[in-house]
Amino acid sequence: MKKIDIIAGARPNFMKIAPIIDLINKCNKLSFRLIHTGQHYDDNMSGNFFKELQIPKPDINLGVGSGTQAKQTADIMVEYEKILIKNPSDICLVVGDVNSTMACAIVAKKMNIKVAHVEAGIRSFDLTMPEEINRLVTDSITDYFFTTSDIANSNLKKAGVNSKNIFFVGNTMIDTLLKHMPKFDKPSFFNKLKLSKKNYIVLTMHRPSNVDCEKKITRILNAIVKNVNNSPVLFPVHPRTLKIIERINSTFDNIHFTPPMSYFEFNYMVQNSKCVITDSGGITEEATVMDVPCITLRDNTERPETITLGTNELVGSDSLKIASALKKVFSENWKKSSIPNLWDGKAADRIVNHLVDLV
Ligand code: UD1
Repeated sequence: MKKIDIIAGARPNFMKIAPIIDLINKCNKLSFRLIHTGQHYDDNMSGNFFKELQIPKPDINLGVGSGTQAKQTADIMVEYEKILIKNPSDICLVVGDVNSTMACAIVAKKMNIKVAHVEAGIRSFDLTMPEEINRLVTDSITDYFFTTSDIANSNLKKAGVNSKNIFFVGNTMIDTLLKHMPKFDKPSFFNKLKLSKKNYIVLTMHRPSNVDCEKKITRILNAIVKNVNNSPVLFPVHPRTLKIIERINSTFDNIHFTPPMSYFEFNYMVQNSKCVITDSGGITEEATVMDVPCITLRDNTERPETITLGTNELVGSDSLKIASALKKVFSENWKKSSIPNLWDGKAADRIVNHLVDLV
């Protein structure tokens, strides 16, 4: 039986691998080894997602932890190469655009192991983002491209990828969202904070461009507080963001800071919120599927269908644009979403069917 290495390292990878592993297990035609790079290691950034999404314990944990862009990437490469030298696989399947994705793709390709990339072809065209560099490098050496959208397909074709290697399969993150929706769970603070459905806002921020500068994050938080009509704002804080929040002296009325939340509780909060404000890419997709207004604190997106079809709107970090988007939310004037093609909960089925034919 052909052996697949499934690579995961950081929080948004776990929702993407869960349905693929589940179906590989069920199909009995492929074997896999789950490799966790250790890019994320806190329970609330990693372990909890394995429990909730019933992802099996990784066969190998490279245990690399945090570091600069170069150090983290290099550490993952060195450790994964050791594994492949001892025990090579037939195919390396990477997901998304984090450092673990690019690092393992490079190592596998240099050892003549085929690379499959789930969520291939999406582009923000913003080379100041580490993720865009990860996407470009990964796709330049990928053999099998599993894509989430027509735009991703056309980006790949424009870059010279042969159409026969592009497989438009849909979105595995949405497979996970739809499968687990019945288990979304009201957190215990919901009643304690006297929250009620559609009367609070969910905020997430972790992009270096927003959270690494004290002045900028303060300005964004003030713009939000000023324009939410006194509604409570729930802000689960990413560890990167926490470092700077702890240094800020100002207080922000109405913002409730919490540690990173579990998948079931977080998505309960998003699903029942008045709107979500975020700089994450994955959350724009989930908000689109749940038809929740989504204000994105970025100037660009690699997921344009969340704007053209979905509920997403870009405001960058501009206070005036944040104010005007929130005004639209509170006047109940937000666009309704329609669901992008093939975001139907069956992307992993299609991926596994292709893999059986390909390897
Ligand atoms: C990474 C991904 C980003 C993704 C995000 C989701 C890259 C380049 N970036 O960014 O695309 O959207 O994950 O969260 O791969 N830390 C902890 N505990 C952890 C993990 C991290 O405390 O379990 C802290 C460390 O201090 C670390 C910082 O968070 O320095 C940032 O972690 P890192 O993995 O470098 O990048 P993210 O900002 O999480």
